[in-house]
Amino acid sequence: MSITGFIYNQYRRVATGLLRRRLLKQSGPERLERGDWGRSLASPTEFYLDCFRFFHQRLAPELREHRHYFEQERRGFGEDAMHVMWFLLFREFKPASFLEIGVYRGQVVSLAALLARLNGIGCLTQGISPFSPAGDRVSKYERDVDYLEDTLLNFRHFALPRPELLKAFSTDPAAVALIRSRQWEMIYIDGNHDYEVVCKDWAVCSESVKPGGIIVLDDAGLTTMYKPPLFATGGHPGPSRMAGEIDRNQFREILQVGHNRVFQKIA
Ligand SMILES: C[S@@+](CC[C@H](N)C(=O)[O-])C[C@H]1O[C@@H](n2cnc3c(N)ncnc32)[C@H](O)[C@@H]1O
Repeated sequence: MSITGFIYNQYRRVATGLLRRRLLKQSGPERLERGDWGRSLASPTEFYLDCFRFFHQRLAPELREHRHYFEQERRGFGEDAMHVMWFLLFREFKPASFLEIGVYRGQVVSLAALLARLNGIGCLTQGISPFSPAGDRVSKYERDVDYLEDTLLNFRHFALPRPELLKAFSTDPAAVALIRSRQWEMIYIDGNHDYEVVCKDWAVCSESVKPGGIIVLDDAGLTTMYKPPLFATGGHPGPSRMAGEIDRNQFREILQVGHNRVFQKIA
């Protein structure tokens, strides 16, 4: 790393810490109800900061501990506020099936299993991922991780039931057949971020989610009013562009937490 890069990173680390501390001096909302979700679309930055404060000030310790575990040793991406988004979605919809495209080391698919347990619901948790360092135009992943074994290890760490995992790219015939094999209640798209692939993922998932079901699109905030704070990102061009092309006669946008956007299939 160059000396300029090193100094910039140090500056960013300190500035981020100060900003987080300053934000947490203010209290966040005591509750985040379904009626508040409209605000996430009208004032996405304000709502994101509410979720960030809610995470640190109100969220159940088991969920904060789960996030903390995945922040260690580069086990996961995401942001604290996203755990609040999944908490809200599981509390509201109590899905009986959850599909994640792009598992990495299992942060979100294990969070789904944990939230199912905390909400007392039986939920089929399915992941589709190459379980390899396969990246895309905007992402590179570590080479020396056994992604499949690591995901299973992370499930065991939280004593969660073993998930269903398919080792494949989402566009492989076996993956497409699996996606089409049922009417999913909740789908999370976070695999390859290239526009062409996100479009293919959306096409098959939008047909395979049940009416009233949910699709969460990661990294899709660049084309919204959301202005990420220093410790967050607005997303990537591919998913952000695709989100702008979603047929609003078929899907209603119901929630945005940072760069994650939530769409409900109109029944
Ligand atoms: C950003 S990471 C996902 C992070 C994960 N959702 C989480 O919250 O921890 C993207 C993952 O998608 C995988 N991936 C890349 N191309 C894919 C594809 N075509 N289908 C499914 N997964 C893909 C990558 O190898 C990586 O594990």
